[in-house]
Amino acid sequence: MSKSSKCPLTSANGAPVAEDQNSITAGERGPVTFDNWRMFEKLAHFNRERIPERVVHARGSGAYGTFTLTRDLSKYTIAKFLQGKGKKTEVFLRFSTVGGGQDSSDYARDPRGFAVKFYTEEGNWDMVGNNTPVFFLRDGIKFPDFIHSQKKDPATNLPNPARAYEFWANNPASLHQITILMSDRGIPASYRHLHGFSSHTLSFWNKKGERYWVKWHFKTNQGIRNLTNEEAAKMPAFGAQKDLVDAINRGDYPSWTVKVQIMTEEEAKTYRINPFDLTKVWPYADYPLIEIGQLELNRNVDNYFAETEQAAFSPGNLVPGIGASPDKMLQARLLAYPDAHRYRVGVNVNQLPVNSPRCPFHHYQRDGAMAGMPPAFGSDNNQGGGVNFYPNDQVAKGAPAPVAEVAEPPMPILGEAWVKAYDTHDEDNFSQAGDLYRVMSDDQKNQLTQNIAGGLVQATKSVQERMLGYFAEADADYAMRIKKAMAALK
Ligand code: HEM
Repeated sequence: MSKSSKCPLTSANGAPVAEDQNSITAGERGPVTFDNWRMFEKLAHFNRERIPERVVHARGSGAYGTFTLTRDLSKYTIAKFLQGKGKKTEVFLRFSTVGGGQDSSDYARDPRGFAVKFYTEEGNWDMVGNNTPVFFLRDGIKFPDFIHSQKKDPATNLPNPARAYEFWANNPASLHQITILMSDRGIPASYRHLHGFSSHTLSFWNKKGERYWVKWHFKTNQGIRNLTNEEAAKMPAFGAQKDLVDAINRGDYPSWTVKVQIMTEEEAKTYRINPFDLTKVWPYADYPLIEIGQLELNRNVDNYFAETEQAAFSPGNLVPGIGASPDKMLQARLLAYPDAHRYRVGVNVNQLPVNSPRCPFHHYQRDGAMAGMPPAFGSDNNQGGGVNFYPNDQVAKGAPAPVAEVAEPPMPILGEAWVKAYDTHDEDNFSQAGDLYRVMSDDQKNQLTQNIAGGLVQATKSVQERMLGYFAEADADYAMRIKKAMAALK
């Protein structure tokens, strides 16, 4: 007997359901009959509850918040959300680990994703970054190989550090990021206690058509806090998710001070570091941080799947005044993310409330799976009866047309412009890794080199020798300490 409720249980077509717990059977002991449409609907929907998890960054937590501009940036960019001190823009931020599956531990030694969707008045800008200012690679064509080497062993389905180091031994460009990942900063204590970085060089451009190269930094106001391997091993797998949800629920809103580094196009031509090499930072002494705002998270999601799981961030979601850069990795990402979204969520991914622009939007794309959600769900009924082709004769009556004023200034090609595959294997892979090593305390150096030794000792002799060679190029003491730590483990 069902308990009486003011809210009738219905099936998906909205019809009240009389019986939900007992299937219809021929006689008390069965079998079930073919008129069990109610049970069939439940089972069929249940079978389809999962969508593919993200191929990387599968495990994550998200929340909404506010970005407040504290410095007018109209000198550098026409981006409307960066005009006028005090301007506020709603954001959605998703933190993640990279390598593990959806139910893996929040406390892996792994970079943390830091993806922010700014719902600006001229469309959504996605800043899809990490908690590290650099990355393991400088060419996107290597990304699938890299990720294969870091994820589980294809035979045993277990983590296998020998494979990770085998990839790194063949890709010395990773040394700077390895030095960060294996350091005391490798396991953040929570999502609130880490910085975020665009890592890539992006751009600003202003109404005079001048372009600036820009790196974004989000400095945690909670302070950096990390865990040792031993502390991390004792943490509950979903601790970082809980920490974030609990902090926001109790009104302890986490926040970040937002800063940028800005380089002119002219300076980029002669800067000693390739400004578009994702394995390198721009030292603060050369390009100081300029504070521009505050980002606060203040609202948890109502539904994890609808919002956090279906959130779709793309480095290609740009707004007028913010552009990409010639960084090869970034270019690869411009393709990879929307492609992943169409596969993982569907071609109308941007109609979902979490992804939908908060400003009016009009285009000539139509139909496709799940097109036409009602306005209450963030879309507008597949743009109704509006004209669905362009050019057309209806622009004067309000049909959408391109806005010439938001054209990005043309981008010059830097250096020699031969179309070919450029091998960057032997570029400077070590100097910034060495610089970072040398500013570490003795204790930090010990943690770093012991963490590396624990994995490297499991690799082949040839991999060990090549890796030790790279560490020695960064700093002789760096290699020496790893060698010593490995000897103690053998
Ligand atoms: C060419 C190199 C790269 C490729 C091909 C790539 C590809 C991908 C793909 C396919 C996803 C899953 C997207 C989805 O299903 O929604 C993803 C997620 C992500 N990637 Fe990358 N990635 C690359 C490099 C990077 C770099 C350099 C960063 C940071 C600086 C980064 C940060 C992220 C973040 C934060 C997410 C999770 C976004 C979210 O929370 O939904 N990736 N990446």
